[in-house]
Amino acid sequence: MRREKMETILLSADAAGLEQAAAWIKNGEVVGMPTETVYGLAADACNPEAVARVFAAKGRPADNPLIVHIADMAMLPELVSEIPELALTLAEKFWPGPLTMIFKKKDCIPSITSGGLDTVGIRMPSHPAALELIRRAGVPIAAPSGNVSGYPSPTSVQHMVRDMTGKIAAIVDGGECSVGVESTVICFENEDTVRILRPGGVTREMLLTAARHAVIDPAILHELQEGQAVRSPGMKYQHYSPRARVILAEGDYDRFCSYVNAQEEEDIFALVFDGEGEALSVPVMTYGRDEQEQARQLFASLRELDDRGAGCVYVRAPKPEGVGLAVYNRLIRAAGFEVIQV
Ligand code: TXA
Ligand code: MG
Repeated sequence: MRREKMETILLSADAAGLEQAAAWIKNGEVVGMPTETVYGLAADACNPEAVARVFAAKGRPADNPLIVHIADMAMLPELVSEIPELALTLAEKFWPGPLTMIFKKKDCIPSITSGGLDTVGIRMPSHPAALELIRRAGVPIAAPSGNVSGYPSPTSVQHMVRDMTGKIAAIVDGGECSVGVESTVICFENEDTVRILRPGGVTREMLLTAARHAVIDPAILHELQEGQAVRSPGMKYQHYSPRARVILAEGDYDRFCSYVNAQEEEDIFALVFDGEGEALSVPVMTYGRDEQEQARQLFASLRELDDRGAGCVYVRAPKPEGVGLAVYNRLIRAAGFEVIQV
């Protein structure tokens, strides 16, 4: 496909900016879109050429499907062929918001969008600029996270400018993302059970207020073994990784400090919780005091560690509960499953 370097225009999230962004999407171009989770690379989900440009801009493997974003419930039955009762209950409770549900797809979703699968993940985002962009474009919008494939997801317009300048038509500035980690992805096992394929802002505890069972897929906390089948293609790929080597350290704070202070690699940093850092003899960054703040700040912290020249980062592990499960999941992947007990 064509594509020399293109000019990337920064747009405000006002009526004029969103109208311009919608025009580009209708024209088959790719636009950086703010959402409450992370920024996405938005394109017309039903236009295979537009979707091909998304894969090219990210450098994403062709078998990893894109999530399709809708602005109202009327769009859902146009895209999917079966809607379980439980999906309607969950949509009622958690849409618009950071929940993606997997359905059997209809033919109007091209195979490039679904990565060759016969299913499609659908999400109704809550960021007002995302909703307005979908409405103005008048089409369902396919949008993966706006990072270069493998790198931490973008949670600010500056991250998007860094990763996507010269690769896409425009970026809408919607401020900082309030959730900070990508949506929870679920599929339906039966009428009262969901399976969590990727943890996110809608927690297992929240899902259990509507579903009788919410199974955590083993791939969320454990490395896949050779040849093991995956339920979500994204589970196969290296993710969220800064250039620096990341090591996730479980254990109490005092032991963490003595362990890290005794290490002798070059350019060691520590990524710890707010209020910590005093007893450490290496440069320190913090990423929030509770799980919500940690989710919001994690990706920006990983990017900043690269900017500061970190070679190796020891990270304090959050409790894998609530939104902390999403933070923990992103961290073990950023660490390539290098987890140590201190
Ligand atoms: O919060 C989010 O979900 C963001 C914003 C932009 O909405 N989007 C996002 O998209 O994180 P992406 O493409 O970076 O991650 C989508 C994940 C991938 O791991 C993919 O494998 C999985 O969802 N996925 C998508 N469609 C699927 C399907 N039909 N079956 C199983 N997994 C699917
Ligand atoms: Mg992603």
